[in-house]
Amino acid sequence: MFAVTGITGNVGGVVARHLLAAGRKVRAVVRDAQRGSVWAGRGCETAAADIGDASALVEAFRGAEGVFLLVPPNFDPAPGFPEAQMTAKTLRTALEEARPLRVVYLSTIGAQAKQPNLLTQHSIIEQVLGGVPAPITFLRPGWFMENSAWDVAPAREKGVIPSFLQPLDKRFPLVATEDIGKVAAELLQESWSGHRIVELEGPRRIAPNDIAQEFSHLLGRSVHMEAVPRETWEALFRSQGMKNPEPRIRMLDGFNEGWIEFEDGEPGSRKGTIEIGTVLQGLIERASS
Ligand SMILES: NC(=O)c1ccc[n+]([C@@H]2O[C@H](COP(=O)([O-])OP(=O)(O)OC[C@H]3O[C@@H](n4cnc5c(N)ncnc54)[C@H](OP(=O)(O)O)[C@@H]3O)[C@@H](O)[C@H]2O)c1
Repeated sequence: MFAVTGITGNVGGVVARHLLAAGRKVRAVVRDAQRGSVWAGRGCETAAADIGDASALVEAFRGAEGVFLLVPPNFDPAPGFPEAQMTAKTLRTALEEARPLRVVYLSTIGAQAKQPNLLTQHSIIEQVLGGVPAPITFLRPGWFMENSAWDVAPAREKGVIPSFLQPLDKRFPLVATEDIGKVAAELLQESWSGHRIVELEGPRRIAPNDIAQEFSHLLGRSVHMEAVPRETWEALFRSQGMKNPEPRIRMLDGFNEGWIEFEDGEPGSRKGTIEIGTVLQGLIERASS
């Protein structure tokens, strides 16, 4: 049996779908039992556990052949990343007590970066989980193609998409959550010892201008990207309610300046198969339904 956290989200749902399709038993780990009913209907066991509740996580992970571990995104962490420090400790405690045979932790591209930024949260968790004796894979995907869900309305309504990824013709490592979940399900069914890192991006790197071009094609209207000036980000993020925008700004700097990258750059990463056009088409359809 494989325990899957984040199953109601983008990646966890794909992981579970692939495991079920391979004939594996899945335990849906949800924070609210009601949220697991769809997965119960698909033949999964369910377990209720908040990511901050070590004893509930122990029960959710107990007896598992593999655990897919995902921490919910936190775009506005407090200075010093105390939330990630706490989550890391909780996860370590839960894994040490439940002793699943293996773990795939959904981390991120750039988890090895030394400069503090939003992704440091994953660096902290990787480091703490590094002390757990179980076989663990740190799966480090690139920027999710699904982040373009935010682009659909401006593309459709105005034909202009604001971009924080800059310059607009720079090609970035993007990946579809379908590819991430598929690879995670494959990794969970492998056996390995110790800790390993798997870095993953899509079949080719994508520039913001390429995304605009795909939207133009799919929406049948002219669409272009507009770089949001760096000097406006802090005020903008604060106006959106963020208390500590610096880590998010530094993450964007890291992508734009190239210090958020895979350990061995593009040549060293595993490649998915899903193209940006396929993901954008799905996002457009979802926004219309
Ligand atoms: N976006 C990117 O470009 C990118 C790139 C690299 C890595 N990542 C990482 O990918 C992860 C996000 O993956 P995703 O997009 O698949 O997530 P997502 O779609 O945002 O889903 C989050 C999942 O976490 C669950 N969740 C939220 N709060 C919880 C809590 N307190 N306890 C237990 N579960 C909770 C949600 O359950 P409910 O349905 O109950 O809310 C949902 O299943 C993050 O760790 C992020 O840092 C993202």
